[in-house]
Amino acid sequence: MYKHSVSILGTGFIGLCSAACFAKQDIKVIASTHNEKKAEIIKNFQSPFFEEGLEEMLQEIRNKNPELLTCITDPVKAVLETDISMITQGTPMREDKSIKLDYIESTAEEIGEALKKKDDFHLIVVRSTVVPGTTRNLVGKIITDISGKEPGKDFGLCMQPEFLAEGKSLEDTLYPDRIVIGEYDIKSGNMLQDFYEYFYGDHLENCPILRMNLESAELVKYGNNCLLSTKISYANEFANFAELVPNVDVVEVMKGVGLDYRLNPRFLGAGVGFGGSCFHKDVNAIKAWSKSRGYNARLLEAVLDINDDQAIHIVDIAEDLVGSLKDKRITLLGLAFKPGTDDMRSAPSIRVVNELEERGVTNIIGYDPKAKETARVEFGDRIQYADSIQEALKNSECALLITDWDDFKKLTPKDFKTHMKTPNLIDGRRIYPYEEFKAELPFRAMGRIDFKD
Ligand code: UDX
Repeated sequence: MYKHSVSILGTGFIGLCSAACFAKQDIKVIASTHNEKKAEIIKNFQSPFFEEGLEEMLQEIRNKNPELLTCITDPVKAVLETDISMITQGTPMREDKSIKLDYIESTAEEIGEALKKKDDFHLIVVRSTVVPGTTRNLVGKIITDISGKEPGKDFGLCMQPEFLAEGKSLEDTLYPDRIVIGEYDIKSGNMLQDFYEYFYGDHLENCPILRMNLESAELVKYGNNCLLSTKISYANEFANFAELVPNVDVVEVMKGVGLDYRLNPRFLGAGVGFGGSCFHKDVNAIKAWSKSRGYNARLLEAVLDINDDQAIHIVDIAEDLVGSLKDKRITLLGLAFKPGTDDMRSAPSIRVVNELEERGVTNIIGYDPKAKETARVEFGDRIQYADSIQEALKNSECALLITDWDDFKKLTPKDFKTHMKTPNLIDGRRIYPYEEFKAELPFRAMGRIDFKD
């Protein structure tokens, strides 16, 4: 077993996936959440949310050594009984789109309370996404004020940004492409590096550990998510260029661009735009942060605008194909923000439903292989929910493909022709072979038009 034990303060995707991966590698972990129901579920080695492979990993830990992972509702106790504490609380978006640091703040207070009673050196690692300065000026300061202890002497302070994507959380945690350690001082950074040298072992041969100051590490995370979202909006801008010229296909264009050795083809997928808990939140947070310091983030403003407009654009394309959608029955294939998850946060489907309603459409039916319940929380009775693709297509007059689930990729023109009243289809994720579908159906795809359109 590793010499140091770890408390994980916050049991969302980052927290629980890390807790499970660490425990699986013989590191003693105490997870802490204020949510008693959640703690009960985790204590039973189950996952309170869906994440590929997580439940299986938790069961594996239970079968191997259940002592390695516990979950409690007392963060002070969790800190007191461990050597390293990782803050993995959410940093959601406020109404004004800036970052909400309340959970980070209250966790820092709890750590401060614990350290007041502790004499041994303790390492604090912020792993939540936080705007530059937060680890030092908020977390470090609160802990110092409450505990009377000194950073660098009595406790260590690091910031380690997390790059995991939902649906791939375990894989991304186990096999990262780099580890970024932001450190208050060398001793703190060394302690965290030692931890990861134990945890990752041989994987570190292909995974550099970058050491830098706290603020640079905080900014790396924003740099990452902002560049990924910029790539998507850039691809969408080119999708809109492609639609200005018959028979130009954005998929081919982006393939040609992405093979440049200085770029790469990932995240150049055009369509109905990005969603999820991170891209909107983080792009908005760093934009609001820079504005509060007198700098206007013009590029990021455009990234968000282009993304929002794609949801309006897919509805424009549908109206161009079908005419007014007002009294028509419309099908949305896919509601979750991406395949492999039931997460509806900032999902493109929300913006599409808003736009359809804006144009007077009231007869909308959605189908998602995983997100029926979470979508119901989001939309209530604004839309209907199908239990199968067939049910979603039945009597429909226009289908919009919103999420690129594998189940949808298998559909053929015949499926649409058989089940729909009028088989109009718009491909918002470019998953269907254009020529084949175009020959068989009234069909449009984002990022391509042909002479006949
Ligand atoms: C993202 C980052 O990938 C991850 O590193 C970070 O830690 C959290 O945010 P996630 O939000 O889980 O992860 O999903 P991701 O797979 O990145 O997809 C985000 C959105 O972009 C999805 O809506 C997806 O459909 C969309 N997307 C992705 C595109 O529209 N085009 C693409 O080419 C790729």
